[in-house]
Amino acid sequence: MTIWNELTALQAASADRPILDLFADPARAADFTATACGLVLDYSKTNIDAATRAALIALATEKGVAEKREAMFTGAKINETEDRAVLHTALRNLAGSVVVDGQDVMPEVRATHARMAAFCADVRAGRYTGQGGKITDVVNIGIGGSDLGPAMACLALAPYHDGPRCHFVSNVDGAHVHDVLAVLNPETTLVIIASKTFTTIETMTNAETARRWMASKVANPGAQFAAVSTSAERTAAFGIAPERVFGFEDWVGGRYSMWGPIGLSLMLAIGDAAFEEFLGGALAMDNHFRTAPFEQNLPVLLALVGLWNNQFCGYATRAVLPYDQRLSRLPAYLQQLEMESNGKRVSMDGADLPHNSGPVVWGEPGTNGQHAFYQLIHQGTRVIPCEFLLAAEGHEPDLGHQHLLLAANCLAQSEALLRGRSLAEATEIMTKKGLTGADLDRQARHRVFPGNRPSTTLLYPKLTPASFGAIIALYEQRVFVEGVILGINSFDQWGVELGKELALALAPVLEGKSEGLGKDASTLSLAAKIRTLRG
Ligand code: F6P
Repeated sequence: MTIWNELTALQAASADRPILDLFADPARAADFTATACGLVLDYSKTNIDAATRAALIALATEKGVAEKREAMFTGAKINETEDRAVLHTALRNLAGSVVVDGQDVMPEVRATHARMAAFCADVRAGRYTGQGGKITDVVNIGIGGSDLGPAMACLALAPYHDGPRCHFVSNVDGAHVHDVLAVLNPETTLVIIASKTFTTIETMTNAETARRWMASKVANPGAQFAAVSTSAERTAAFGIAPERVFGFEDWVGGRYSMWGPIGLSLMLAIGDAAFEEFLGGALAMDNHFRTAPFEQNLPVLLALVGLWNNQFCGYATRAVLPYDQRLSRLPAYLQQLEMESNGKRVSMDGADLPHNSGPVVWGEPGTNGQHAFYQLIHQGTRVIPCEFLLAAEGHEPDLGHQHLLLAANCLAQSEALLRGRSLAEATEIMTKKGLTGADLDRQARHRVFPGNRPSTTLLYPKLTPASFGAIIALYEQRVFVEGVILGINSFDQWGVELGKELALALAPVLEGKSEGLGKDASTLSLAAKIRTLRG
């Protein structure tokens, strides 16, 4: 029997076993909790027992996670469909050395980091000024990986901000760039155009709009722009002076890129020292991932829990529920990280995937989500594994009582999902309220919680640059492990191309310059209606 089949059999055999029963073992909570880099991962509230965990670890071993992990860290071209190495880890290991195509890439990484740090120090100290004095605001124009990472990080690390305010423009919807620029003073605003390729239509369109806005207000608009890209030619063609261009190599994937120049807005906001703490947290997680046995390896364990829930139990989605308002952009960030990485229908060799691809990832911070969609999580017909994140301590010492309430809510939700409420318990509650007969029966049934719904909890002391870096690196490596086990190339994204091509072809149809030959009737009819409505 293959390990995969063994796991399928283990799932069938344990499907009707309540997770709560596993807690008959007094060591369950300790045994199914792992700790690294100050993070505590409790996965005891899942239907994984010791035999299943052993089989999952055997699966990771059989699929070559350890070998592929080393191949990634040492610069092998594991992104086979793009013939590229995958080395975002090098961006956070500034003292390291990695050879790609016969060349140590680190001197260049360190030099760019030093240039970024010097530029940020100048801007933050007011030595690099706008045409109206010290830079007060930074606008990062980018999308996908050139937006979600730094936007999330700037919010996550707000308590460490002592530099200019950061704003983010991503959507090609003109409303986005309009509303952000409308409240800013161009003379004290620095615009960063962040695009790995410097061809992305949304980013380049917003960049042109920002340039027109700047040109209408200041004498030397170019001086208020910086760029982050792998293409020095395109940034030069856009007119950005090379001293304000920060490059990186194609072995940094867009959704893995905030550790380097794409993190420029974050470095401007928090300064290089805090930025390096952020890198240090990620590096610590990388080192843990590289060295810890699978039984204690956080990224491996998180990946295995995800695979168990998705591939073996058939739970198609996963809710990410940070009980941390400053992680409110984490679910959106993870949507790109996980779904762009592992949402693939063929394996590395082009063959159809014999199992499901990665799960749908979604979520919102608690406690807000409790008052919105948790109803379905608790009583809906589908099981949705939940991933809770919680800091032991907040950043607001005078609001400690609110943090305790937040923590109590977080623990209460995973407890409720585990335990549920039986019909007998619901009946007892409603009887005490005076209900009897058919009314009692009907009302009690509405108050039943099936429970037995799996969740994990990731606990960290406080959301600091280091712990935040470790959390994000944990997620990145978890995606890597899942991808390896599924046989997917987690580092390409061909699935986003078709829509881009069709949008380019549809623009002239909407303008009335093309009839859209070959397009389907629905699309043509919608385009005609848009033309009519726009007059
Ligand atoms: O369309 C998807 C994508 O290529 C992402 O992978 C990437 O993060 C995003 O677009 C932005 O790309 P760029 O940084 O090249 O503008």
